[in-house]
Formats: sequence, structure tokens, C-alpha cells
Amino acid sequence: MKILGLSCSPRKKGNTVTLLEEMLKGAAEHGANTELFSISGKDIRGCDSCYSCFTKGECHIQDDMQPLYEKLLEADGIVFGSPIYTYGMTAQAKAIIDRIFALNQPGRTLTNKVCGVIVVAGSIGLIDALKDYYFFITVQRMLPANFVAAYATEKGDAAQLEKGMTAAFNLGKEVVQLVDKKFKFPNEFPRNFFAFGTHTH
Ligand SMILES: Cc1cc2nc3c(=O)[nH]c(=O)nc-3n(C[C@H](O)[C@H](O)[C@H](O)COP(=O)(O)O)c2cc1C
Repeated sequence: MKILGLSCSPRKKGNTVTLLEEMLKGAAEHGANTELFSISGKDIRGCDSCYSCFTKGECHIQDDMQPLYEKLLEADGIVFGSPIYTYGMTAQAKAIIDRIFALNQPGRTLTNKVCGVIVVAGSIGLIDALKDYYFFITVQRMLPANFVAAYATEKGDAAQLEKGMTAAFNLGKEVVQLVDKKFKFPNEFPRNFFAFGTHTH
């Protein structure tokens, strides 16, 4: 079983990484193979709306999202981590979510993978990012695991949060336990990828 922690903080070894590492420790201690992917120092560009992924099955942008696509697909469980930047997830976190648009071929989706979230803020915006992440998780037909929402500002602050660190460790354990359940959405409830609502034709 593979559990991926994905840090969308540009800060090297910041609070998001600290909490994700604790989550991965919890997962590893419960039998998982774990990996941390940090976007710090990486080149993750925004979707350019070319739609070529619809016909070709892959994104044409050659940047650090390419190896991340494979890591996301290989993982049984994923925990997204992002600091709050201006009341929401970081631009890199949103770029990754947009670029996952390209994972839209049979056998190349995030459907049925277990997914948790870790968000970190100095003061305000945690719930906004959580809502965005869990809406994404719902639409992808992933299985939602718990979240950790922590208050930390300076580098090193998160490591001092006794409850936050315990919650992160427990999230790792929970993700492993949920993956073990081998949950699958029934085929009669396919992924509804597009935002068709009552207002569309
Ligand atoms: C550009 C920028 C915008 C930020 N905006 C917010 C914000 O809106 N709300 C908040 O509570 N903290 C905000 N912060 C603080 C970070 O969320 C906080 O420092 C967090 O611990 C950073 O996590 P990291 O160490 O994983 O990078 C901002 C920080 C930066 C650099």
C-alpha cells in the first residue's frame, strides 16, 4: 500500500511538511509505504486550457507535474497539504488540482483513492481551503478521510502543536485503515466530472 503526502507549500521544511511527515509516520507505522512530494523549488505551471488531454490522454506541459501525475496514480491514499495563502490554498495547490483535469482516461483517474487534507494558517482561511479540497474530492469520487486544520505561522511552529501533531499521525493511520477496506464506488455511480447543474442544458 502506498500513501503519498503532497505538500503545496513553497517553503522548504515548513509547517505543512512537518504535519505531512507526521501523517506519513502514522501511515508507515501501520504498514504503508510512504512518500512525501513537496512542490518547494519545483516548477508546477497552471493549466493552459488547451484541452489536448481530452484527446491525447495526457497533459502536454513538461514540468514537475509529470512525475507527480505518476505518483498520484500509483498511490492508494493521498493527503493533500497546503498552507493558507490569502484566505485559500496556495496557487501551486490550485494549479495541481486544475492539472488533475488531465487524469480523465479509464484507469487513469483518482477515483476510489482515499484522500485526506492538511491545512495550515497563521489566522484565517482554513475552512475555505477545506471546502475547496473536499468538493474536489467528492467530484473525483475519492473516499474522503479526515482532515487536520492547524494554526502555525513561523517555521517550526507546527512541531510544537501537540494536538495537531497527534491529529496528523492519526490521519495517517486512518488513511491506511480506510485503504484496507478496499472501498469502491459502484459502477452505476460514475464520476460526474463536469459541473452540470440545473442551469445547464
Ligand atoms: C503570501 C502569503 C499569504 C498568506 N496568507 C495567509 C492568510 O490569508 N491567512 C492566514 O492565516 N495565514 C496566511 N499566511 C501565513 C501562512 O499560512 C503560515 O505562515 C503557514 O504556517 C505557512 O505554512 P508553511 O510553513 O507550510 O509554508 C500567508 C503567508 C504567505 C507567505
